[in-house]
Amino acid sequence: MPAILLLNGPNLNLLGTREPGTYGATTLADVEAACRAQAERAGHTLEALQSNHEGVLIDAIQGAALRHKAGELIGVVFNPGAYTHTSIGLRDAIAGTAPLPVIEVHISNVHAREAFRHQSHISPVAAGIVVGFGVDGYALAIDGLLRKASR
Ligand code: DQA
Repeated sequence: MPAILLLNGPNLNLLGTREPGTYGATTLADVEAACRAQAERAGHTLEALQSNHEGVLIDAIQGAALRHKAGELIGVVFNPGAYTHTSIGLRDAIAGTAPLPVIEVHISNVHAREAFRHQSHISPVAAGIVVGFGVDGYALAIDGLLRKASR
């Protein structure tokens, strides 16, 4: 069965201890385990990657696109962290690898926070967006990706 890639950007390795009032107490390892169980219940495998480096994330999207084209991967659930608001490179990677579906996730409601978090370079090229549901947003994004894939 084709895989799902769970991709997390900068500082999300610190989930659980990083600003817990904003991002909660769940660790990234817990998020990845829950997403893996969810994917496997649906008959898929889950691959998880976190990086603090923009180029590594771009390479992961390009690699995912090749595997999507080969029928080996359904799509990507991606929390780009702060690169959401700064990275034209990530936006171009997603635009340049269409029709690879990328679902953008934010744990916090970025629109209720500082003005610099209100703009996303990723949203215009995302297949869907999940914002403000805490770490439950990852499960919602996987569900949305699976629903899109089954259409
Ligand atoms: C975030 C929101 C971003 O603004 C922030 O830089 C993050 C996490 C979120 O999941 O709410 O690192 O993507």
